[in-house]
Amino acid sequence: MNVMVVGGGGREHAIIKSLRKNPNITELYALPGNGGIATDATCVDIDAKDIAGITAFAEAHGIEFAVVAPDDPLVLGAVDALEAKGIPCFGPNKKAAILEGSKVFSKNLMKKYGIPTAAYEVFSDLEAALIYLETAPLPTVVKADGLALGKGVIIAETREEAQAAVRSMMEDKIFGESGSNVVIEEFLTGPEVSVLSFTDGKTLIPMVSSMDHKRALDGDEGLNTGGMGTIAPNPYYTKDIAKQCMKEIFLPTMAAMNAEGRTFKGCLYFGLMLTPIGPKVIEYNCRFGDPETQVVLPLLESDLLTVMQATAAETLAETEVIFRAGAACCVVMASKGYPGLYETGYPIAIPSDLDGDVYVAGGQLRDGMLCTAGGRVLGVTATGDTLKEAVEKAYRQAGRVTFNNAYYRKDIGQKALLAAEEV
Ligand code: AMP
Ligand code: GLY
Repeated sequence: MNVMVVGGGGREHAIIKSLRKNPNITELYALPGNGGIATDATCVDIDAKDIAGITAFAEAHGIEFAVVAPDDPLVLGAVDALEAKGIPCFGPNKKAAILEGSKVFSKNLMKKYGIPTAAYEVFSDLEAALIYLETAPLPTVVKADGLALGKGVIIAETREEAQAAVRSMMEDKIFGESGSNVVIEEFLTGPEVSVLSFTDGKTLIPMVSSMDHKRALDGDEGLNTGGMGTIAPNPYYTKDIAKQCMKEIFLPTMAAMNAEGRTFKGCLYFGLMLTPIGPKVIEYNCRFGDPETQVVLPLLESDLLTVMQATAAETLAETEVIFRAGAACCVVMASKGYPGLYETGYPIAIPSDLDGDVYVAGGQLRDGMLCTAGGRVLGVTATGDTLKEAVEKAYRQAGRVTFNNAYYRKDIGQKALLAAEEV
């Protein structure tokens, strides 16, 4: 069977390694993939946003199943284009991907269907937003409506900061049209949990929960990044909370999308905050999280391709989706300086007997040698019977992977380990 994965980061590498376990896959392509992914799939130099290029490649190479992993192609309608050619896909169509593509849409959906989220106002007019901010409670959260490379959220402690954020989005258009509308919302507090789920619009199966570490420095200090590490399961996400989320958030979201004529099929990601008055949605993503995928899929016992095909065929109800007991930890190794300026082009040395998995995010082959080519270079994932074991093992293995200017946080999982003692 010929399978293609659209995307080229650590998440896609984890998806590809997991798919590889299925012996029925004969050809596995990554568009565009990267120098690290090249070990596990045939990389094709087609940009993930080049919908026409992706579709033409799929037709020319007899692709029988496609996985569209990143947000951009999903929001641009990659699944619609592939399905129009008769190619089954894992991922939501354009109408459903709006759940991540527009925060105004997702906030209005939650309000309409009573799904718990932060209170908010939407503005399309700069003056009205500035006037609102004169009396809004502080801190306040300013969000650009559309996709903004994960940078469209600003938590403002002061009115001046909030107003500057709104100006930069609406007047200076730092995120282009994504900032034409802004959401200004209530600041929530509490532990954050990521829950990815498989859904075919009829059935929704949550995957093992996880915790991202978004800040660049230890102790959750420094700038926001694409994610510096993850652990799974998230100890704050107890069985009772999981039940409550299923009833109040997950199933109502699936039903709301159906009611809107926007049936969601694929991986629906719930970014949750466990506030003192209950779990609330911080954000929806229409795809697997990065680097959540790098701890979630290593714990998946069932065959990923089978589950993805069932999602596309709307037969999830009859499909077994099992996660193994135990825990996983992913330590992201970055180029020093990330998310600011950093150098690239340094050879990466990965021992052949590494006791864990390496998922390459920013790697390029130069004369056959894997070299650094991005801010986040790779993630080292280890699993264990306990979270403590997984964390210790991930760090032991990360210590054996070397490249010039490597930087990684030293405290991935520490908050979770403390929480595990309390919960
Ligand atoms: P996002 O870019 O949408 O993933 O948001 C980045 C981060 O901003 C989230 O992971 C939260 O930590 C934080 N955040 C977003 N919305 C809120 C909110 N309403 N209250 C508090 N923190 C928030
Ligand atoms: N790790 C957060 C995200 O994928 O959006």
